[in-house]
Amino acid sequence: LGESGVQEYLATFECPRNLDVQEFLRRRAIPHEKALKSRTYLVTEAGSIPEQPTILAYFSLAIHLMEVQGSVSKTLQKRLHGLYFPNNTRPRPLPCFIIGQIGKDARHSDRTTGSELLDMARRALLMANDIVGGRFIKIDCEDIPALVDLYQRNGFRAVQNDVSTGLLEMVLFF
Ligand SMILES: CC(C)(COP(=O)(O)OP(=O)(O)OC[C@H]1O[C@@H](n2cnc3c(N)ncnc32)[C@H](O)[C@@H]1OP(=O)(O)O)[C@@H](O)C(=O)NCCC(=O)NCCS
Repeated sequence: LGESGVQEYLATFECPRNLDVQEFLRRRAIPHEKALKSRTYLVTEAGSIPEQPTILAYFSLAIHLMEVQGSVSKTLQKRLHGLYFPNNTRPRPLPCFIIGQIGKDARHSDRTTGSELLDMARRALLMANDIVGGRFIKIDCEDIPALVDLYQRNGFRAVQNDVSTGLLEMVLFF
């Protein structure tokens, strides 16, 4: 399609419930891809890209560093860190993978489920995990009960609220 064709194709995605999710795909996915900051996966109806099959949903994956607050239980901190537990004077950010964006096109919401998308994301990250390791996958979730419930049903557990964004940080261990 060429870059402008892909840009137009991605601009067909609609997600009014979460405009950040919509705008990432429309405007930021290509620059992020080119800068090697993340990888974006489209879930489409059957068909090859030149035919521009309808985009049903997408998710974006990236590598990430998580800052764990001292208020998190020691048991969970130990599990997040794995081998070495930091002393309080020198907190060490933890390397992990992140599902940076996830969302369905509102017009085709019944064609896929959040659980299916999370499973696809997890399976893609398992390949990276096989090669380089990494203890867990993180997702930053708005404090909306239906969303928290979705992630919990799929094995994520809440760790802490990000002090700057207020988002709930949840993790899934490999
Ligand atoms: C997140 C998502 C992929 C989950 O898909 P799903 O598991 O198939 O669930 P549904 O789309 O049926 O939504 C489940 C419930 O969450 C609610 N919900 C989903 N996204 C929401 C949002 N951004 N704000 C408020 N409520 C939301 C839905 O209204 C629904 O509520 P109901 O059960 O009372 O009808 C999908 O809801 C979505 O694309 N949401 C918009 C984008 C988004 O918010 N992404 C997550 C950012 S943390």
